[in-house]
Amino acid sequence: MSKMWGGRFGKKTNLLVEEFTKSIQFDKKLAEYDCLGSLAHIGILKKARLITAQEHDKLKKGLVSILNSIKSNKFEPDNSFEDIHSYVQHLMEKKAGKTALKLHTARSRNDQVALDTKLYCAKELLTTRNLLLKVMDSLVKLENKNSGLKMPGYTHLQHAIPVALAHHLGAYFSMLARDFKRLGSTLESIKFSMGAGALAGTFIESSKYNIVVKDLSIEPTMNPIDAVSDRDFVVETLNALAITGMHLSRLAEDLVLWATKEFDFIDIDDAFCTGSSLMPQKKNPDALELIRGSAGKLYGNLISVLVMMKGLPLSYNRDMQLDKEPLFNSFEVVQQELKVLAELLPAIRFKKENIARQLEDECLYATDMTDYLVQKGVAFKDAHTIIGKLIAYKVKTGKEIKKMDDSELRAFHPVLTGKVVKKIIDPETSVESKKSIKRKKRKI
Ligand code: ARG
Repeated sequence: MSKMWGGRFGKKTNLLVEEFTKSIQFDKKLAEYDCLGSLAHIGILKKARLITAQEHDKLKKGLVSILNSIKSNKFEPDNSFEDIHSYVQHLMEKKAGKTALKLHTARSRNDQVALDTKLYCAKELLTTRNLLLKVMDSLVKLENKNSGLKMPGYTHLQHAIPVALAHHLGAYFSMLARDFKRLGSTLESIKFSMGAGALAGTFIESSKYNIVVKDLSIEPTMNPIDAVSDRDFVVETLNALAITGMHLSRLAEDLVLWATKEFDFIDIDDAFCTGSSLMPQKKNPDALELIRGSAGKLYGNLISVLVMMKGLPLSYNRDMQLDKEPLFNSFEVVQQELKVLAELLPAIRFKKENIARQLEDECLYATDMTDYLVQKGVAFKDAHTIIGKLIAYKVKTGKEIKKMDDSELRAFHPVLTGKVVKKIIDPETSVESKKSIKRKKRKI
């Protein structure tokens, strides 16, 4: 195709270079935002009297018709163009004829692509936050459906102390609530500006750049070099998405583990599992495994943009075009994961009997027995040793602590009796005895 901005060239672009440098195959995602940015731009051109009211209306009509075709999914960009900005310019020339030749007045794609990408991020950050809310809601529903359920708590994946399922699931709720906030503050820190030109600003008075597009306030740039060379908002967005993905990956891993024959704490609905091509008995939690694994993609996307940006001289460099695919991919991955989880979570069935069986492990109550001795005046380190010895005795003899007689127990400490240990070795008592936790009604 002929060079779009090619007045100074004596040759066509080498076909390999044309193919290698184009971005339309992926940046067509920005079409809507490119049109919105251009709507703001023609408002500025009109205010600056660089186009007449009629010319403005003609350009506006063209841009609105492109926006409509995008909304009705009829927009099919021609992939032979270099990028979406050039393609929209080309469409506008077809729609508004000569008037469209004024569209790019005092504008550069360097400023345009920064604004387009910011508008895209703003929209997708909001969408992601809404999807996160749905998953948080699903977690609450799952918790309510199993309210009061106690389970073994783990550290080092070893039995630790009984906990409430509400706290285990609630921990994920807290992670997602932080993600919700983080995505929100990422959005708030994005500054929408125009007027940077290629890097030095434009001849249009800064006051003309105060303009509102779709409830978003655009301001005149404070530093045009920074405006075209800053991609912090992309890095921050990728960071917020990577952290969200890390949380979802941990949740997926807990669920995969709980669905194993060894744990057997949950049943994941058939609709969310897949079979094996060879082993007829298999019911695999593939969706959760992919959520667990996709954290790698999200970290990779963040790292690839961080590395691409490091060491770039000011101001705009074409390297920065490479921020798009990682950015688009991270949003796609996280949004897909959230959609799946919002449906998968409420369909989980807890196998209460199996969980109750694990709670019979008396080792889970060793800390509670230690705490009991401490509350009877024994120094903590002594109490720790005494109960440690009791556990060692239990392991060696294979006896249940609850079944030991008083004299056997008193040999460890005079306050330990059958009645006392029976009271302590109980999941409800154990969980209820934890007084340090501030109980707060959660609002969603
Ligand atoms: N496709 C480019 C990008 O994504 C758009 C800006 C191109 N600017 C330029 N001077 N070639 O960064």
